[in-house]
Amino acid sequence: MIWRNIISIADLTNDEIEQIFELADSTHQLRADKVAAGRIMATLFYEPSTRTRLSFESAMQRLGGSVVSCSDMKSSSTAKGETVADTAKVVSSYADVLVVRHHWDGAVQAMAEHADVPMINAGDGSHEHPTQTLCDLYTLKKEKGDLKGLTVVICGDLKNGRTIHSLVYALARFGANVVTLAANGMELPQYVIERLQREYQYSLAPVASDDLRAVVTETDALYLTPKQPHQLALFTQMDSAVQSQLATMVSGLRYDAFYMTRKQKERMKEGTTGGSYPTIGADFLRKQRFKDTVVMHPLPRVDELSPEVDKDRRGIYFKQAAYGVPVRMALLKFVFDRMDGKAKPAKKTVQWFQSPDPFGPQCSNANCITVTEPGSATKKFEVLSNGPGAALLLRCSYCDHRFKVQLIGHAKSKRYCAYDISLADTLKDWLKKHELAIFNSIKEAEELGYEPYKSGPQRTIMDDVEILAGVRELSQQIARDCSDLDRLLILGIRSKGSYLAQRIAAELEERQKRKPEVGEVEIYGSGEEIRRIAPADAEMAPMVLKDRTIILVDDVIYTGRTVNSALSIIFRSGRPQSVRLAVLIDRGHREVPLKPNYVGKHIPSSERERVRVKLREVEHDEEDKVVIYSIIGPTEA
Ligand code: NCD
Repeated sequence: MIWRNIISIADLTNDEIEQIFELADSTHQLRADKVAAGRIMATLFYEPSTRTRLSFESAMQRLGGSVVSCSDMKSSSTAKGETVADTAKVVSSYADVLVVRHHWDGAVQAMAEHADVPMINAGDGSHEHPTQTLCDLYTLKKEKGDLKGLTVVICGDLKNGRTIHSLVYALARFGANVVTLAANGMELPQYVIERLQREYQYSLAPVASDDLRAVVTETDALYLTPKQPHQLALFTQMDSAVQSQLATMVSGLRYDAFYMTRKQKERMKEGTTGGSYPTIGADFLRKQRFKDTVVMHPLPRVDELSPEVDKDRRGIYFKQAAYGVPVRMALLKFVFDRMDGKAKPAKKTVQWFQSPDPFGPQCSNANCITVTEPGSATKKFEVLSNGPGAALLLRCSYCDHRFKVQLIGHAKSKRYCAYDISLADTLKDWLKKHELAIFNSIKEAEELGYEPYKSGPQRTIMDDVEILAGVRELSQQIARDCSDLDRLLILGIRSKGSYLAQRIAAELEERQKRKPEVGEVEIYGSGEEIRRIAPADAEMAPMVLKDRTIILVDDVIYTGRTVNSALSIIFRSGRPQSVRLAVLIDRGHREVPLKPNYVGKHIPSSERERVRVKLREVEHDEEDKVVIYSIIGPTEA
């Protein structure tokens, strides 16, 4: 039998969501028809819940069905070490539909793969909470009419809040705009922003912060919209131009709703929960600007909403919670209607990559089910052959996190090579034929019996003396322009940019007898994106970007997309006074209108060539050098 699981908001099309809303408008009929008569729903909650579980159970009973429930999984066989896969298999023989909440990202999908009945995700880790999104959209529609063109401000813990992640994808699909207003360190993850860009062509712009002063926060608001304006072209030779760019940020937006969320303390590392948190209170309510702005919250709230909001007509979160029952009645009816074996899944069909070899790539998210309980999940990834920096990225099918991989192989001929964008078509072809292999390291590839493809002869275009001179030249220029060492922050793009940033900082130290602060930005990671390298003092307060003069450092600039990603991370984490770009090598071919302020050497090159900076820190015994070579890919080898 085929049925429909509701694991992600992507499991429902816009039309289907509208259908569910229509059903939710006529719950008296659903009740009269007893659409769940004779059916049993099982609820398995591995995490606390009030609204989601009780409204699901109430919905099922109102439809004439019955419920078996395990509200505290510690009293189940889970406590004896039963896997989620086994629990799902067993319980699905006791019930006709399973509603599950779990603390691991992707756990509900893994359970769905082992269950014999439809599975509904009631929240999985920090990943998604699609049925909350249905309640949120239903509430917004009731209050504001059409979703298209609305501007919704999402507020608070955007990093760990699963309701936020499902909601932003849905808002994007319905053509609404999103403004992010994150607590410091809890910004919307880069993988979510990239997905909004990739799948819905959303772009980012900073919002003039005066607009949102009534809601206290240290980080900048960002505007995500399917249209311009854009934050590109921020780099110019002149700081004043950067300043005027920042001055033309989006202002005068009409805010239709604020969606506040609680700090997800249980999902944070200890000691990372500090800092101020946005709040909505009297100040907000007094502002003419927000006179028609409704305030929503998935609840539970802690102290981010003050009591005045409860009494105000704009505070609609209790109504939003009450809609939980009709919306979930409608969803259950929708799911039962699709248990006849004819239903097709709504999701876009992705050609998943599964490693033909043992090991294979590993999801970078430590809370992903493929990491926490690998035996319950079969690793599958979407292959994104043109990520930022033209990198090859894999998106985990369970938790959505994406990470970079560099080595690919052809399983039939047992050859491997470093991925390059010129191999994108070949890669797609191998994927289609199930002949694609991906490795974590050369060692892994060779142990599996793969041999390298060839590359053309390498030509050294810069030796260690020239590289040293290049770094000195960059440092001198930076020292000339940025005399205020307290303001200066040298930020390298991981990993070679970080080493160059440290070398530049050492040069500056020698010159000025004081070391500037050095940090690094990780654009492919899914954890901490910006961190301090020096001074290397674990006790120090987190790095502050506000009002700093940032020198962003990378080894080679090519398309400019890497820098663009780093830039979006920086602007999500605080507003510096200016950002300038320093690169050892500029090889042209820009896709994004960026112009470095400081360049060690211009090296015109063709798109078929690779320019590699080899640094002692990475290559260990080798001397510093920059080499260029052409790629003799699988097609010519
Ligand atoms: C949310 C959840 O569990 O993700 N609650 C809910 O389902 N309404 C929000 C939260 O816990 O903060």
